[in-house]
Amino acid sequence: MTSFVYAAHPARVVFGSGTLDQLPAEVRKLRRSRVMVVHDRALGGAVDRVAAALGTALVARFDGVAMHTPVAVTEQARAVLDAGEVDCIVSIGGGSATGLGKALSVRTGLPQIAVPSTYAGSEVTPVLGETDGDVKTTRSAPEILPETVLYDVDLTLGLPVPVSVTSGVNAMAHAVEALYSADANPVTDELAAQAITRLARALPRIAADPSDLDARSDALIGAWLAGTCLGVAGMGLHHKLCHTLGGSFNLPHAQVHTVVLPHAMAFNAAAAPQAMRRVAGALGVPDAPTGMYDLIVSLGGPTSLRELGMAREDLPAAARLATSKQYPNPRPVTADDVADLLQAAYAGDRPDGPAAVPDFGWLTEQVVASFGQAPDPRIRGLIGNLVRTMHAYVRDNDLSQQEWQFGVDFLTRTGQLCSDVRQEFVLLSDTLGVSSMVDLLSNSRTPDTTPSAVLGPFYLPGPPVEDLGADIAPGLPGTPLWTDVSVVDTDGKPVAGAVVDVWQSNDDGFYDVQLPEQDGPVLRARFRSDADGRVYFWSILPSEYPIPDDGPVGQMLAATGRHPYRAPHLHFMIDAPGYRRLITQLFVAGGAYLDSDTVFGVKDALVVDFAAGAGRTPDGRAVTDWRRLSYTFRIATA
Ligand code: BEZ
Ligand code: FE
Repeated sequence: MTSFVYAAHPARVVFGSGTLDQLPAEVRKLRRSRVMVVHDRALGGAVDRVAAALGTALVARFDGVAMHTPVAVTEQARAVLDAGEVDCIVSIGGGSATGLGKALSVRTGLPQIAVPSTYAGSEVTPVLGETDGDVKTTRSAPEILPETVLYDVDLTLGLPVPVSVTSGVNAMAHAVEALYSADANPVTDELAAQAITRLARALPRIAADPSDLDARSDALIGAWLAGTCLGVAGMGLHHKLCHTLGGSFNLPHAQVHTVVLPHAMAFNAAAAPQAMRRVAGALGVPDAPTGMYDLIVSLGGPTSLRELGMAREDLPAAARLATSKQYPNPRPVTADDVADLLQAAYAGDRPDGPAAVPDFGWLTEQVVASFGQAPDPRIRGLIGNLVRTMHAYVRDNDLSQQEWQFGVDFLTRTGQLCSDVRQEFVLLSDTLGVSSMVDLLSNSRTPDTTPSAVLGPFYLPGPPVEDLGADIAPGLPGTPLWTDVSVVDTDGKPVAGAVVDVWQSNDDGFYDVQLPEQDGPVLRARFRSDADGRVYFWSILPSEYPIPDDGPVGQMLAATGRHPYRAPHLHFMIDAPGYRRLITQLFVAGGAYLDSDTVFGVKDALVVDFAAGAGRTPDGRAVTDWRRLSYTFRIATA
């Protein structure tokens, strides 16, 4: 059992896209009416918009923000503030703008609203670092914390990729050091792990597409959580080194964080094994320091102090400065150790991974060779590669006997649950995305046919044959759905006489086979396409539903924080002589879980508008609130 104290730093947080428009309302909420905006010059356009919205409430504006919050700049801004009789400070920009807002607020006692545009995180800390000439002072006090933080994801869209990367790694550094901080507790641990998870998955997406709003949102939430860690947990060697290099050698803040972090992590790894396991888990890699280094390399760096302009001759002085005072760190710090660390960071070396695993490749080769006599070359290739892949998995993850036993037990339980009516192995393959991968490789190689989707466990061969226009949900509750689909070939020619099997869940998300009281098939049928290739029928709008989750697969999903839901869909299996079978699903546009379908079945081309029906129904049926689904399936010749 852990006992601990967690002192939250209260701030009002407004998060979203376009939230900058809410600034005037936030100012009013603080009961203020004379605003000074301090901001990064590059954000002048956004500030012009804010100025228009604030109208006469904007009485002063200052864009002379500078790195490391020099006191001289604060004094200039203070003069502007005094002249304007300001009663509320708004900072818009990166860590330097936030710093100036804090410096003004602590001097005047005025409330502040921070609008961050980077991942620095200082908007949620009660810490202020200032420089006066060469001297840097840092203080922490509750009144330094901004009263309101307004996160507008749109402001981060313009952040260039290299700045996004270094600012994002800077944020991850807060979370990493929080995990091995002497102040760590279960709350900061959760915040830190979430922060790293979000940033590690967001940054590659941002590097690929800087305007990806979802990735930007993930990164900004990650930065907020990481900043929260920074505000409540003391930092160690990494931050000390970065402050020394930034303050005394004038190296750029976020870039220095990016270069030093993997090396500081490698230095502390053996002394903080639990924290490193959490970081590795959040990064999805076997080893945290090398995983962090590899992530940074994949994002384009930087990886060396040399490329940041550090002089090699300055390394010994930096090592001395960074160790001149003792501070908490999981592994005791000596000047010699730090000199080695800085040398590696200077050169940009990949930190050493865990102690080298002996080369047991001979075992792999022996096992592969043991299958060498298999007569079928395809089987020989498949088994050989299976052995290689599994051996590599065990070796790369340095799997313990206990972990392997857990895996064996898990698979045993998976097998034990299988029966005529339950296929837990297929569910496992579905939830690991393997079924979808096999399906894609087999059936979705050409763009001119309708994409396929997994069959799922609820198909029953030989469903009841129905006439076109039939209702396959007679008397069932739910929103009536008129489905009118066509089957055509890749030239757009109708395919007449195609056998089209359909099946779906009911309004509560259950298939007939899951309902003990249900006698016989419902919500499933077989149709034959007419001369125009058309198939039409009545059913009901399908709902989202959980896959069976009362077995080992459900436990896996729960233990890893995944939900068991499938996005709402209708299944189709289409067979016609001379054509390839198409097994697919149509998903309800706007439905739940479209972006997190637990079996990875959703493809954009299969998401369809199940539009509200207008006026009379196509066959004159008397229903009011109804939907209509139209779609054309393109199938390939065999
Ligand atoms: C289904 O859509 O019916 C399904 C597919 C995979 C796993 C569970 C259900
Ligand atoms: Fe389904």
